[in-house]
Amino acid sequence: MIGTGVISNLNVLGYIHSHDAEIVAVADTNVDNAKQKIERWGLRTVKIYEDYKTMIKNEDLDIVEILTPHHFHAPMAEYCARNGVPAISVQKPMAHSITDCDRIIKICNENNIKLKLFENFIFAPHILKAKELLDEGIIGERTNFRINTVLTGGPHMPYSLIESYLWRVQTDKCGGGPLVYDDGIHKFSLALWLMNQERVDKVYAWIDYFSGIMDGPSNIFWKYPTDEEEAPKYGSMEFSLAPNMYFPSNYYACEEFMEISGTKGMMWINQCTSGGNFMSDSPQYPPIVVYVDGKVKNYGEDLPMDWRYSFINSTQHFIDAVKNDKEPIYTGRQGMNLSIFAKMPYISDQQQREVFWDEITPENEANNSCVVEKFFTKRKSLFQMLKYNWRVSKDLKKGEKQGLKHTEFKYTYQN
Ligand SMILES: NC(=O)c1ccc[n+]([C@@H]2O[C@H](COP(=O)([O-])OP(=O)(O)OC[C@H]3O[C@@H](n4cnc5c(N)ncnc54)[C@H](O)[C@@H]3O)[C@@H](O)[C@H]2O)c1
Repeated sequence: MIGTGVISNLNVLGYIHSHDAEIVAVADTNVDNAKQKIERWGLRTVKIYEDYKTMIKNEDLDIVEILTPHHFHAPMAEYCARNGVPAISVQKPMAHSITDCDRIIKICNENNIKLKLFENFIFAPHILKAKELLDEGIIGERTNFRINTVLTGGPHMPYSLIESYLWRVQTDKCGGGPLVYDDGIHKFSLALWLMNQERVDKVYAWIDYFSGIMDGPSNIFWKYPTDEEEAPKYGSMEFSLAPNMYFPSNYYACEEFMEISGTKGMMWINQCTSGGNFMSDSPQYPPIVVYVDGKVKNYGEDLPMDWRYSFINSTQHFIDAVKNDKEPIYTGRQGMNLSIFAKMPYISDQQQREVFWDEITPENEANNSCVVEKFFTKRKSLFQMLKYNWRVSKDLKKGEKQGLKHTEFKYTYQN
C-alpha cells in the first residue's frame, strides 16, 4: 500500500477480511502516520517504508494499492509497472490529467500489468441491487439520471483532514477541485454505470467558488449518446451546500440522493456515504424506492448499509480478478473515461459553453484548450479553511452553552 492517509483505513479492510491476500508492507513519506495506522489496524508485523521505490525493490508483491494525492498516481503506477508488480489498483481519479491517465494505460499494457481504477460506490450493496433491478428492466428504458450531493457543515475538522484537503484545492495536484474532480468521480461513475453507458456526448455546467474552500455549489448537465431508435437520454448532477443539515456519519459529512427515470417507472436511491448510520432506519428513506404500474415498492432494507462494504467489495473483486485472471472493474480505459467526464464541467464553466467529450484529450491538454484553470491559492484556501473551522467550533461552543442542537447553529460559508 502506497499512502496511509485518510482513505487507507477503508482500503485496508478488503485485505484484512480476505482469505487470499494480506498486507505485507506500506510506504508513506510520513512514517509516523504509517506507524499509527498499522497499530490501529492490528497489523504490527507489516513493514514500513519511507520510500515506495525501496518497498517495490525489496518486497515480492502481487498487488500494489496507490492511495496518494492525484499527481503521484501516474509516476507511482509507472514505477510499479516497470519494476515487476503484476497488478496495480489506483484510487480514483486515475490521474490529475488525461495525459497521465493515457500514460498509465499504455505502460500497463506494454508490461502486461492488470490495472484497476479503484471506485467503491458501484460496489455498495444497495447500488449493486439497484443495478440488478435496472438491468432487469424494472423501470423500462433508462432515460434520465439525477444525483444531488448534499454537503453539510459538520463539526470541527481535525488537522489531518485539513492537510488532506490542501492538495485537493491545488489544481496542479488534484486535476480540478475537491468536489467535481475528486468526489465527483464517484458520481460520474454512478451516472455511467447505472445508465449502462461508457461515455456522454456533451456537458454544460455552472461551478461556483464563492466559499474559497471548494468548487461548489455546482450544477452540471449532460446528454448521453443514443441511437436513432432509442429515447434521448440526459443526466444532471448537483453539489448543494447545507451547512445546518446534520448527517451523523462515521465517514464523510455528505449524502447522495439519486433519481432515475425510465420509460415505464422511476427509481430513487436515497443514500450512500452516510448510509447505514441513520437514514436507512427511517421508513421514509429506504435505500431504494421504485414506482411502477401505479405502485411504490421499497428494496434493499435487508442489505448491510455501512459504507465500508463498498470498499471491501471493490477490493475483494480485485483480489479475485488478479487470482483468476479476470478484467477488473474499472479497467484503465473506463477509469480514464471517468476523468474525461469529470474535466468537462470545468471547461464548460470556464468557457461558458457546451463541451464535447472528444475535446478532452492529451493533445488538447498540450495545447492548453482543455486545461482546468487554477481557482484558489493554497494560502487563501488554508486561511479560509482555518477561518471556517474556527467559526464552526466557536458556534458549536456557544450553541452547547445555550443547549442548542447542531441544526440550530448559524453557520455561513461567506468570505
Ligand atoms: N473512494 C473514496 O471514497 C475516496 C475517499 C477519499 C480519498 N480517496 C482517494 O484516495 C487517495 C488518497 O486520498 P486521502 O484522502 O487518503 O489523502 P491523504 O492526504 O489523507 O493521504 C495521502 C497520503 O499519501 C502520503 N504521501 C504523499 N506523498 C507520498 C509519497 N511520495 N510517497 C508515499 N506516500 C506519500 C501522505 O503522507 C498521506 O499519508 C486520492 O486518490 C483520493 O482521491 C478516495
